Amino acid sequence: MKFFLDTADLDEIEEAASWGALAGVTTNPTLYARTGGKLSDFHNHIKRICDIVDGPVSAESVAMTREEIVRDGRELAEIAPNVVVKVPTMVEGLAATRTLADEGIPVNMTLCFSVPQAILAARAGARYISPFVGRFDDISEDGLEQLSNVVSAIGGYDFSESTVNHEQVEIIAASIRSANHVTQAALMGADIATVPFAVLKKMVQHPLTDRGLDAFMKDWEKVQNA
Ligand code: G3P
Repeated sequence: MKFFLDTADLDEIEEAASWGALAGVTTNPTLYARTGGKLSDFHNHIKRICDIVDGPVSAESVAMTREEIVRDGRELAEIAPNVVVKVPTMVEGLAATRTLADEGIPVNMTLCFSVPQAILAARAGARYISPFVGRFDDISEDGLEQLSNVVSAIGGYDFSESTVNHEQVEIIAASIRSANHVTQAALMGADIATVPFAVLKKMVQHPLTDRGLDAFMKDWEKVQNA
């Protein structure tokens, strides 16, 4: 499993990148709005993320028609070679994904909540598909079960004929709210988990690691004083 950071916060991205395990970043309009960024600075902001991260950086189109999404996607793809265009799972999004994929522009289909949506996204040429876990849980459904269904269904077929450069479509477990979500996503074979920085910090922690480290430090003090 690879880890992406689900944020548009440059400080968080710089910090997480310095840990040595970051494979990419996903942003969305809400995450960019949280940085206080202006529309006029959006492309520049994405460029700064692409300069920090050696991996795919998802930047979302907020257009609602296929023509506008394609135009957005082409502009976003010009920002840096590692930009991935994030497109919502809807009819206009599917049509735009097909065009962008045919032009060699990778697409991350987002707001995916079902197996049929995921299969359509893969057939339309999406390079990444993002099933949302936490938002399913938010409506008292089982987000992990939905993710597992998508992983199994997509893994059962070869979609490489549909994708950019015939690469295999990868599943991004999105809307991750806890380290346990990451554990379960890894066990079911999701390719990528995109996690908020708060979850990434929790993933490093374990009370037995802290306790063990504390004991080692105390014992080493005895060695130094012996
Ligand atoms: O980036 C999409 C997704 O990860 C958003 O998560 O927590 O807003 O449901 P959340």
